[in-house]
Amino acid sequence: MIRSHTAPLALLAAALVAPACAPASSHQRAGVTPRRSPAVAVDRRVDSLLSLMTLEEKLGQLNLLSVDGDTVSPEQGELIRKGLVGGLLNLTGADATRRVQRLAVEQSRLKVPLIFGYDVIHGYRTTFPIPLAEASSWDPEAVESTARVAAREAAAAGVHWTYAPMVDVARDPRWGRIAEGSGEDPFLGAVLAAARVRGFQGVDLKAPETVLATAKHFAAYGAAEGGRDYNTVDISERALRDVYLPPFKAAVDAGVGSIMTSFNDIAGVPSTVNRWLLETVLRGEWGFAGFVVSDWTSVAELQAHGVAASRADAGRLALEAGVDMDMQSRSYLEDLPALVRRGLISEAVMNTAVRRVLLGKARLGLLDDPYRGATPERERATLLAPAHRQLARQIAREAIVLLKNDRNLLPLSPAVKTLAVIGPLADAKRESLGPWQAQGRGEDVVTALEGIRQRVSPGTTLLYAKRADIAGADTTAFGDAVRLARQAEVAVLVVGEAADMSGEAASRSTLGLPGVQQRLLEAVHATGTPVVLVLMNGRPLALEWAAGHVAAIVEAWFLGVESGHALADVLFGDVAPSGKLPVSVPRSVGQVPIYYNHKNTGRPPSAADKYTSKYLDAPWTPLFPFGHGLSYTTFDYGDLRLSAASITRAETLKVSVTVRNTGARAGTEVVQLYLRDDVASVTRPVRELKGFRRVPLGPGEARTVEFAVTPAQLAFYGPSLEPIIEPGTFRVFVGGSSVGGLEGSFEVR
Ligand code: BGC
Repeated sequence: MIRSHTAPLALLAAALVAPACAPASSHQRAGVTPRRSPAVAVDRRVDSLLSLMTLEEKLGQLNLLSVDGDTVSPEQGELIRKGLVGGLLNLTGADATRRVQRLAVEQSRLKVPLIFGYDVIHGYRTTFPIPLAEASSWDPEAVESTARVAAREAAAAGVHWTYAPMVDVARDPRWGRIAEGSGEDPFLGAVLAAARVRGFQGVDLKAPETVLATAKHFAAYGAAEGGRDYNTVDISERALRDVYLPPFKAAVDAGVGSIMTSFNDIAGVPSTVNRWLLETVLRGEWGFAGFVVSDWTSVAELQAHGVAASRADAGRLALEAGVDMDMQSRSYLEDLPALVRRGLISEAVMNTAVRRVLLGKARLGLLDDPYRGATPERERATLLAPAHRQLARQIAREAIVLLKNDRNLLPLSPAVKTLAVIGPLADAKRESLGPWQAQGRGEDVVTALEGIRQRVSPGTTLLYAKRADIAGADTTAFGDAVRLARQAEVAVLVVGEAADMSGEAASRSTLGLPGVQQRLLEAVHATGTPVVLVLMNGRPLALEWAAGHVAAIVEAWFLGVESGHALADVLFGDVAPSGKLPVSVPRSVGQVPIYYNHKNTGRPPSAADKYTSKYLDAPWTPLFPFGHGLSYTTFDYGDLRLSAASITRAETLKVSVTVRNTGARAGTEVVQLYLRDDVASVTRPVRELKGFRRVPLGPGEARTVEFAVTPAQLAFYGPSLEPIIEPGTFRVFVGGSSVGGLEGSFEVR
């Protein structure tokens, strides 16, 4: 194997981690403002502000505090008046934020506005599907739209800055925060990261309906040992660059305004003191021009990590590593002034951080309009606007993944005579919102039961078994459930996790249905009435029994305010399901981690050979693979064509395929393209997603879909972690999931 040594490395390095279908426009990449003269003006303004600040006021700009309730505490008010707070989180509402902003801009010496941050993860008041569910849509435009609407609502309510998108790649469903991200794949994750940044920030952050985005948690937070939140990460730089960093790079290329460090350490270095990550990679290699914020008390936690002897030490290390803002530790505020005075921290380091935070505020237009046009009237008119709900319904439909549908049990006829709706999540308003609810309210939610009730025909008898427990041991509702299931033609069983079983600090050691729900499922199934299993959950669940016994399984994740409408749209066939899994679903927790883009190993699993990489007691395949998802119709792939049998390292290959809807209903297929580098100087994954397209097709309709395989997509990090393209054969797979599909091959010379 001959290694290329002449590839344009810088270009490749940049391209390697950037998704081909999410180009960053040049004005979005610019640090502060698009044009030169305003940028210079902003720089001057920031510099002059900086020159007026006392040391305490400077460090105050780096101090980010959380508000408990709808206003600041008297102590916080005092700090704001003294110019010792740079931003607040968890204060929302146009009224409340205006009131508190006034303290800063009317009563502090230099009148520097506060920046108000909040976790707008999947909607502000209009709750969209959780990010993992949105990722199941494989629809970057839709994902961008929901971020845009979330920004519009949050901004109207006085929020300037969201702690989203969470772009952590996660291969371990025990980790509850898998719910907040886009799943296991770096490419899909990168495309959606960029889409969300564009959605939140728009083209100009000065526009009042935008918010500054935060790509978090930098980095490799999803690789926590054992799926235990906050836990240790010990991975190679290669894994970091191949798997965990690409979505961050994509967010940076899309112009993301801030980055949040992660709680974990990587190979012994907590991210909040990881100078290599923050300075060498983020700012040096990627040219990130925004500011870096710590996670909640992650500065003070450096003591618990055992890398700082005191909080002051922690603050110094974090600032010197490149963390500009200290969330909630108060170390920058209370410890650092003395350290700077004593010359233990250089003033230049401090000034650089202050500058970055001020530039972030300038970029948001806060220096000109500290309220950014947020008013109670605008807030009222914006929150939960009908168009927002409409969008929530549309993406929720797309987020639903049909995992199994034996004998076409689905779609159901709206004229079904008797339908039983059973299970603790069938009519659970608040739970349907999922984790990170922001200002979402249970009362806004249309539950599965409500959606179904609205959709069935007047002649349908709808039976509903009262709520059972999600996690408890109570089985008293079982009798009722079984009785109703017996009377029904079909039983829709809505089970899964409570909203707080995923998200932060919500790791699980098992991946089954919590509580007695598995027994409920088996009891209902035993009636012989066909069961449609609807799952609501924030992580893949290992439901091997269900996959073997239940006719239809619908993965709904948490779909947000329009849960019930979207579910009914799909269950009754008004819309065919089109979602695809953004993460592999394991058969059991013992298979974890299991992901499609694994290495081949020297002994790939083989049934015929014991001494290969597998289990004695379980198949090596997942229960449902990455990319899987059924529709109510079928799609046929044919006519795979490659524009050349052989290309140079500088050329782009065109790959086309014809996809035909072979059924009688309309449907949308997510066409996926994977590559495999057959022989390289380091081991490469068996497949890597490199392109995808949602293709709507009427009955019998066929379309030819074309993908461009660019040099960047052929590149990888070579033996010394330099980006290279090596000559040799590549395989290309095109299909409707990460398994099977049409296969072709080409040579790179
Ligand atoms: C979480 C972050 C979040 C922050 C502020 C932390 O505990 O890890 O994701 O943005 O709190 O709420």
